[in-house]
Amino acid sequence: MAPYLFLCLFLFFPHLYASFSSSESHSCSSLIQFKDSFSITKDASWYFDYITGLKSYPKTNSWKEGTDCCSWDGVTCDHLNAHVIALDLSCSWLYGTFPSNTTLFLLPHLQKLNLAYNHFNSSKIPSEFGRFTSLFYLNLSNTWFSEVPSQVSHLSKLVSLDLSSRIDYSGQVTIDKHALEGLVHNLTEVRHLFLDGINMTSVNAHVFMNLSSSLRSLSLAFCDLQGKFPKNIFDLQNLNLLNLRYNQLSGQIPRSLGNLLQLTHLHLSGNQLSGQIPLSILNLTQLEYLEISENSLEGSIPDEAYICHLAILVNSPNF
Ligand SMILES: *[C@@H]1O[C@H](CO)[C@@H](O)[C@H](O)[C@H]1NC(C)=O
Ligand SMILES: *[C@@H]1O[C@H](CO)[C@@H](O)[C@H](O)[C@H]1NC(C)=O
Ligand SMILES: *[C@@H]1O[C@H](CO)[C@@H](O)[C@H](O)[C@H]1NC(C)=O
Ligand SMILES: *[C@@H]1O[C@H](CO)[C@@H](O)[C@H](O)[C@H]1NC(C)=O
Ligand SMILES: *[C@@H]1O[C@H](CO)[C@@H](O)[C@H](O)[C@H]1NC(C)=O
Ligand SMILES: *[C@@H]1O[C@H](CO)[C@@H](O)[C@H](O)[C@H]1NC(C)=O
Ligand SMILES: *[C@@H]1O[C@H](CO)[C@@H](O)[C@H](O)[C@H]1NC(C)=O
Repeated sequence: MAPYLFLCLFLFFPHLYASFSSSESHSCSSLIQFKDSFSITKDASWYFDYITGLKSYPKTNSWKEGTDCCSWDGVTCDHLNAHVIALDLSCSWLYGTFPSNTTLFLLPHLQKLNLAYNHFNSSKIPSEFGRFTSLFYLNLSNTWFSEVPSQVSHLSKLVSLDLSSRIDYSGQVTIDKHALEGLVHNLTEVRHLFLDGINMTSVNAHVFMNLSSSLRSLSLAFCDLQGKFPKNIFDLQNLNLLNLRYNQLSGQIPRSLGNLLQLTHLHLSGNQLSGQIPLSILNLTQLEYLEISENSLEGSIPDEAYICHLAILVNSPNF
């Protein structure tokens, strides 16, 4: 009788089966193995403490083998089947080369992964990251990695991608031209794209002409981008933030800037932009922060800009 009862339970309440299964403990040991491939050292996250004034701590210190990892600091599971769906080990003092065979890749259900502000010692981001096809959030900012693999463009569900690097490390992270093309082409859902500090010396800025119209934030500071920026950017009407600081972009700021009605932050300092600031800037009624210094711009910002939006901060020696 008893075995029958169990069978019925599993048939009608399949989630019970999951909680008895070993998939959960497999995920837990994968996480432990992942953690064990790094040393834990405060220096790995010092930059976070430095810029935020907060105190980082190793989240993995509370991880105890033999306990349910769904309750561990930084780990989130799906209630139904106990799959690990989110891992936030940002600012957790992880130091060392990122192993390409890490057990992290045995967690295929991950939807959110944040490893920002750890120190991966100039290792390449393994191409196996391309297997995380369920990811909608990936954050590897300020992790001292050296190369973005083209497989990142397989993560077509990404809504947020942050691969930005701190300024004094900028130029050290490389991305292949085709990888960048693939990324722009495939990430059709992306809303927040932060690629600051990635060396794009060998990339034509035109690669960015077909970005997703869902985009809210585009940040490409210190990328060493050359030439004219594609006009299509000014058709991305949902943009709140456009940061192109410190590249080598030339040409004029197009009138179509006035299409970006949602824009709150515009950073164009440190380029070779020329000509007049288009009057259409008056259209940007949401603008809170404007940075255009260190360019070859002529004329001045229309007075109305000051009157209409008092919050504008004009950080420019030209005016
Ligand atoms: C960090 O990289 C250096 C230079 O490649 C290497 O000698 C060192 O062993 C690496 N350290 C770790 C913990 O991976
Ligand atoms: C990964 O590879 C290294 C050597 O290449 C090996 O020592 C280690 O056990 C492997 N790790 C896993 C989880 O397979
Ligand atoms: C990435 O993580 C860091 C640290 O938690 C955070 O400051 C940053 O805003 C994150 N980036 C995105 C795009 O969420
Ligand atoms: C960017 O990469 C190029 C090679 O593609 C290299 O010559 C240049 O020095 C790098 N820039 C920085 C700032 O490291
Ligand atoms: C786009 O993503 C799919 C899988 O999600 C992949 O098969 C394809 O190669 C990707 N295309 C590019 C250009 O990366
Ligand atoms: C952008 O899209 C257009 C139309 O689909 C296409 O002709 C063009 O080659 C694309 N440009 C890039 C740089 O991908
Ligand atoms: C200003 O915004 C309006 C929509 O409110 C738009 O129709 C117009 O083209 C914009 N003007 C310029 C110069 O961009």
